[in-house]
Amino acid sequence: MIIAVDGPAASGKGTLASGLAGHYGLPHLDTGLLYRAVGLAVADTADRPEFEQAAIAAAKALDTSHLVDREALTSAEAGVLASKVAVFAGVRAALFDFQRAFATQKGGAVLDGRDIGTKICPDADVKLFIQADSKARMERRARQLEKRGVVVDRYALYHQIEERDARDMLNPHGGFYKADDAHLLDTTLMGIEAALRAAIEIVDRTMALKAGGQ
Ligand code: C5P
Repeated sequence: MIIAVDGPAASGKGTLASGLAGHYGLPHLDTGLLYRAVGLAVADTADRPEFEQAAIAAAKALDTSHLVDREALTSAEAGVLASKVAVFAGVRAALFDFQRAFATQKGGAVLDGRDIGTKICPDADVKLFIQADSKARMERRARQLEKRGVVVDRYALYHQIEERDARDMLNPHGGFYKADDAHLLDTTLMGIEAALRAAIEIVDRTMALKAGGQ
C-alpha cells in the first residue's frame, strides 16, 4: 500500500504521515528533508548566478543515508532554502528516482511532501491532502521551535510561511496542488490525535472500497 500525504508548510502532514506509517507498519519518507538538505548544501551560493547549477549538483550528489542532522534540516532557514532550490527542474529530476524507488521497492510506504500524489506516486492507493489555515500553521511551527529553545518572532514566521507557500504555489515544476483523487483533510481545528484518527478512517475506507472493487 502506498499512501501519499501532501500539503503546505507546517500543515502537520509530516506528523500525520509518520503516525500513519506507524499504524500500518510501513516505511516513511519525509521528502521535504531531501530539498532541505540540498538547500543547506548550497546555502553559500544562494541568490548568486551559480545557485541553480550548484543546487542541481548537490541534488545529484545527495547522500540520502545522511539526512541525520534533524535540527539543522528542520530549521526555518532550511525551509526557505529548500523552497528556493525546489523551483529548479534539474533538482526535482535528480531527486525523483530516489523517492519513486522508496515508494515502490519496499512493498509499500508513506511519503509526505508537495507533489507525491501528483508527480511522484500518481498511482498511490490512498492520497491525502492536508490543509490548515496559515495562522494555525504558524502557531504549530512556533511551538515546535520554542520546544527546542528557539526564540520565535511570530510575525516574521507568519510571513516566512506565506512567502514559502507563494513560492511553492507558483513553482512551474512543482505539481503542488490537490490531486483530483486526493482526500482533503482540514486540520485547522484538530489536534494531532483527532487528525490521525480521521486520516486512518480515510485510508481504511478507501482500501475497503478498493477491495470491494468499487
Ligand atoms: O515539507 P517541508 O516544509 O519540509 O518542505 C520544504 C520545502 O521543500 C517546501 O517548501 C517545498 O518548496 C520543497 N518541497 C518540494 N517537494 C516536496 C517536498 C518539499 O518542492 N515533495
